[in-house]
Amino acid sequence: MKRIMLSVAVAMLAAATCMWAQPTEDERVEELLRKMTLQEKIGQLNQLSVGGFDHNAAGMMRAGMVGSILNECNPNVLNRYQRAAVEDSRLGIPLLISRDVIHGFKTMFPIPLGLAATFDPELVQQGARFAAIEATASGIRWTFSPMLDIARDPRWGRIAEGSGEDTYLDTQMGVAMVKGYQGETFDQTSMAACVKHFVAYGAAEGGRDYNSTGVSERTLRNVYLPPFEACVEAGVMTLMTSFNDNDGIPSTGNGFLVNDVLRGEWGFEGFVVSDWASIYEMVNHGYAEDNKHAGELAFNAGVDMDMMSYAYIRHLEELINEGKVSMEDLDNAVRNILRVKFRLGLFENPYIDESNVEAAFYSEEALEAARKSAVESAVLLTNNGVLPLNRSKVKTVLVTGPMADAPHDQLGTWTFDGDPAHTVTPLKALKQLYGNDVQVIYEPGLKYSREFDKGGIAKAVKAAKKADVILAFLGEEAILSGEAHSLVDISLKGDQRKLLEALHETGKPVVLNIMAGRSLVLDFEIEHSDAILYSFHPGTMGGPAIAQLIFGDETPSGKTPVTFPKHVGQIPLYYNHNMTGRPANGREELLHEIPLKAGQTSLGMTSYWLDCPFAPEFPFGYGLTYTTFKYSAPEIEKTEYGVNDTVHACVTVRNTGDKEAIEVVQLYVRDLVGSVTRPVKELKGFKRVAIAPGETVKVAFELDIQDLAFYGKDMVKKVEPGKFQLWIAGDSASGTPIEFEVK
Ligand code: GLC
Repeated sequence: MKRIMLSVAVAMLAAATCMWAQPTEDERVEELLRKMTLQEKIGQLNQLSVGGFDHNAAGMMRAGMVGSILNECNPNVLNRYQRAAVEDSRLGIPLLISRDVIHGFKTMFPIPLGLAATFDPELVQQGARFAAIEATASGIRWTFSPMLDIARDPRWGRIAEGSGEDTYLDTQMGVAMVKGYQGETFDQTSMAACVKHFVAYGAAEGGRDYNSTGVSERTLRNVYLPPFEACVEAGVMTLMTSFNDNDGIPSTGNGFLVNDVLRGEWGFEGFVVSDWASIYEMVNHGYAEDNKHAGELAFNAGVDMDMMSYAYIRHLEELINEGKVSMEDLDNAVRNILRVKFRLGLFENPYIDESNVEAAFYSEEALEAARKSAVESAVLLTNNGVLPLNRSKVKTVLVTGPMADAPHDQLGTWTFDGDPAHTVTPLKALKQLYGNDVQVIYEPGLKYSREFDKGGIAKAVKAAKKADVILAFLGEEAILSGEAHSLVDISLKGDQRKLLEALHETGKPVVLNIMAGRSLVLDFEIEHSDAILYSFHPGTMGGPAIAQLIFGDETPSGKTPVTFPKHVGQIPLYYNHNMTGRPANGREELLHEIPLKAGQTSLGMTSYWLDCPFAPEFPFGYGLTYTTFKYSAPEIEKTEYGVNDTVHACVTVRNTGDKEAIEVVQLYVRDLVGSVTRPVKELKGFKRVAIAPGETVKVAFELDIQDLAFYGKDMVKKVEPGKFQLWIAGDSASGTPIEFEVK
């Protein structure tokens, strides 16, 4: 009886609780929406950039005319703005406070291009989580990251901000960052992520930022859109449109992209923000008559929030009254924004605890994750055996070059809030970690990457005479990559090559570390050094990472996330290109070596250049380490598969050297014949595998045949039966394929 009574009591309590159950998110949105005036609804769509406390801006917030702010990070100022919105406005809707937290907030991680080189999504997710913990402690609850722009052109400065040239790698990294920023469950450290720039911004003609792009719908769907779709499936809360006009239509006014694909096909429930003034810029594009027309085009294309065009706040009411924008669409835009604010818990906790914000910064765990990321993002491009340094023989090193002790530039682009005072540079790290055993001589030679010699090179050369090994740190100042910082010449600037040549001529071994925001042309550097360790811009803990790699306390495992061209004239040059009807025959001899016969009128009739090899300097997915690996030919369990089957492929990898190392084992596939031409190779999987000296490990992959689906001639995504090749190798240019057929 007692048990029955108890169960009755429990049932009654449950019923009571149910009657007073908390309203759902959507119910709360609807309840608030019903109370809002037209002006208050439009106010939610308005994002304002602020710097310091501005009374006019606060007045707009009190009037309910601002939904979000960006570019302010002082917790006290942010709380003042938030009180204006929450306590002084009619409905008290909290602001969504945003910032470009691109690769760390205070603890800076390697630039995203470097993070991609880790081929380690778990580590990248950890880094994004630490960034969210630091940023949300300051009151930032929305970041404009991850940038998913596929980049096949290192002249484009923003290649630094993305994950390189490959769709699959970009997808893995993007999803990892979304999960890291937002957290597996929502709490006060959750920061809404924003996938950007939607879409194909990285295909800018000439690699010139903001330039037009001409990407077909099929290439959009097969190359540029999949990372965005995957992040939508992973629950990303926001998305940003891009500046560029693609095929004549600015993305910020392209209803096909936002209304049809993003919302119609993918069911995106978050909200869409324009890029900075990209609504107004449709006037510059010649796509809108004026800002009001631009506002109409952007809003009807599905852009919910206006970043700094003032188009919505100034013109939406007129557009509604003129029937050019519907009230229903306005309500939906407001719903999208309110839903994110409710999900982040802003209504319950709108304010920042100012008591101990700094405590969240530079934790030991965050710094260690940043160091580990810098280790794994370093790519060993060349090594004649000089690395790792032999500690029994190397007693004096010369540290030289403009990047050896450059605390700001080492952080790379988009480091608004990273404090260079916390940067551990290679010079500092070498002294701290190895200064007891090794004498560290420092002569920069050049003060910054663009500098022309003012006598420093001679000093460095003189100092080199005392050294057993020269550690040269060259590269790019942070400002040479990032937004609006594109280059036509992607070789080292200033007199860096002159410095390297002079160091090389001393006859001492030269270990070259390069910090840069892009892949560079390195023919000269290869000829004038004994090893090249490429660190991209490695962030706060780059110094210890590089020092430990050079001395062998860490082992390189990074792989190139972009192709490194031999010459800038080869660009765009990427591994997953199409075959063409006259594939380059791989001819590598140089123009002057080609013998001419009398009357000869042709030097070859295939797709390559007369004056430059077809092949890159370093292919996608390439990277050396301190041992060597031997791959077996790949094996698969059968040779015929149905469209819903899974290919079980494997390979054995043997460590044929004397050091343990991690190999990024990569799986590539080629669709030999399609209803449209297909890439010669596509990455479909990778695994980081630690292999001890002499050990042979079996590395297995499961490849779903459905992962081979693509948009064909009929623009329908499906697997097309036919023959395929499969590689499992250590980079995109190695390995022998095995064939299978899809029936
Ligand atoms: C910039 C960038 C975008 C950034 C935004 C806010 O122009 O294009 O990536 O998030 O403005 O700073």
